[in-house]
Amino acid sequence: MSRISRREFAKRLSAAMGSAAAFFSADLPAWARGREAAFPGSPMQKNAGKRPIMISSANGYHFGGMRVGYEKLAAGADTLDAAIACVNMNETNPDDMSVGYGGLPDENGVVQLDSCVMHGPTMQCGAVGAIENVKTPSLVAKAIMDNTDEIFFVGRGATEFAKSMGFEMVDLLTDRARRAWVLWRETRSLYDSWGAGLDSPDYEKMQEMKKRGPDFAYFVQKKAAELGIPEDEREVAVNAVLHPPHGTINCQALNAKGEISGVTTTSGLAWKIPGRVGDSPIIGAGNYVDGEVGAGGSTGRGEENIRVAGGHTLVELMRQGKTPMEACLETLRRVQHFFKAYPERLKKVEIQFYALRVDGAYAAATLWGPRPGQKPAQFAVNDGTNRLEDMAYLLKWDG
Ligand code: GLY
Repeated sequence: MSRISRREFAKRLSAAMGSAAAFFSADLPAWARGREAAFPGSPMQKNAGKRPIMISSANGYHFGGMRVGYEKLAAGADTLDAAIACVNMNETNPDDMSVGYGGLPDENGVVQLDSCVMHGPTMQCGAVGAIENVKTPSLVAKAIMDNTDEIFFVGRGATEFAKSMGFEMVDLLTDRARRAWVLWRETRSLYDSWGAGLDSPDYEKMQEMKKRGPDFAYFVQKKAAELGIPEDEREVAVNAVLHPPHGTINCQALNAKGEISGVTTTSGLAWKIPGRVGDSPIIGAGNYVDGEVGAGGSTGRGEENIRVAGGHTLVELMRQGKTPMEACLETLRRVQHFFKAYPERLKKVEIQFYALRVDGAYAAATLWGPRPGQKPAQFAVNDGTNRLEDMAYLLKWDG
């Protein structure tokens, strides 16, 4: 091979790079080039920041978070801080049994929390999975974002990190959640040792109860009374045994400058197998934000959302020109598609998507419409008026 001078090498390299740049700009699809060329000045950017607005799952309204978060947002707080202030209300309130302190535990009675945060203006993010003993995993996720060059901490490492950052260590299992867990444990299987034993006068009754026939709901209710679960807690506990909830809160915030951020936080699936982590702490599934496009998030059955990378899919669909509503419905269609071979099973899937675009357009949609006699599912919006709105849905419930 002939030797070339340093000057000649530099000349050839610069020519090659020039042609590579020409190749890329000519070959990239319009939407990709748009990151450079179209977004500044695009309709999204032109309309961005018309108003501060926050959206969240309905529990953001029920536990006061949307009011608290919006007050911060309107007062000029960073969008991520405002969104986190909203979900902190759920995380610290034991009455939201699907998020933070008071959340329903795993099979072993251990409460493990998942959360992720994403900051649109900088595209920074942080996440924690299966963290224990900290009421506010969203703030731990933010601390990872702010204080490390890493993104996702899980299990003991996440808890130790939180401890090192000064987060208070607490027992997250409230008595109410523990009682519901005991009810689940005593009614779950014919083949385990929980509940009345072989030598108990109640053995037959217990085995009948565990058969999960048509009377199973009745038996669980009866067992709840026998276990001394207070009447005002019974319905929630029984429902959590019959239909283990996924719960979760997703919150997205946009300010008057067009900056946008999002957060998702949860105690995950009730009675999950120890170690199970759902979609909520996964950047791109439970939550995703692109500061030039918008935010996407999800609540409900995390296993389905992970398979469609819902948060990222929502944002990508909006990037390609879909409205937030179209993006939510299309993402639900992808969930539906996975069940094409066994559509009946789809009836067991409960999942919601939320999307907020940088121009302030927003939507939320759930897979199933209301069952006969039930009201439509709702989500929370605050743009100065704090309210619940009905969600769109993809499929009509036919019984
Ligand atoms: N979406 C919450 C979970 O599945 O854990």
